[in-house]
Amino acid sequence: MTPERALPAVALRAACEDDAAIIRGWRNDTDAVRVSATGRPVSQAEHARWFAETLSDPDRHLWVAEEGGIPVGQVRVDVDGETAVFSIVVAPAGRGRGIGQAMLRCAVTEIERHGLATKLTALAREWNAASIHAFEQVGFRRRGEPEGGFVTLELVLG
Ligand SMILES: CC(C)(COP(=O)(O)OP(=O)(O)OC[C@H]1O[C@@H](n2cnc3c(N)ncnc32)[C@H](O)[C@@H]1OP(=O)(O)O)[C@@H](O)C(=O)NCCC(=O)NCCS
Repeated sequence: MTPERALPAVALRAACEDDAAIIRGWRNDTDAVRVSATGRPVSQAEHARWFAETLSDPDRHLWVAEEGGIPVGQVRVDVDGETAVFSIVVAPAGRGRGIGQAMLRCAVTEIERHGLATKLTALAREWNAASIHAFEQVGFRRRGEPEGGFVTLELVLG
């Protein structure tokens, strides 16, 4: 088992309108585009619509992770009944330092504290080792066999 490393100190806050540009920038980074469902960048108009809908959707939680007050990533969680589906992006310059794991830990704590869901899931492309590893380090486990090139990761709380 990999020994636990010291993770960066990150804190989550709810995303707000001022985060639109930075979140679009992370979404349109080359690596994030490659792992996205559509495989293409989002336009300004498309993003503006999506972002406004996201901020007003009570079942969608979009958090910005900050390290020392600087935005370093985002965690999005879509809640449907007892299930919460995760999507994460770390700012390109901050990858590989444990930010992904640190913000995932914060998000799981937030979900537990507010009783938002008990079954946490994420879909990662089979080749996205950094993502799969980050989720596994936080306690998610692979469920079933990969389907359509995606691995399902799951963490059941309680
Ligand atoms: C995936 C992503 C969120 C991970 O965040 P991160 O901050 O870079 O990841 P972390 O540093 O917390 O953890 C990555 C882990 O994977 C490991 N890892 C990285 N690349 C790896 C590789 N090619 N093979 C195996 N393990 C790898 C790291 O060593 C680390 O594990 P460790 O803590 O045991 O050393 C980030 O790289 C990212 O935003 N990528 C683009 C968007 C994306 O892929 N989102 C996820 C969609 S499901």
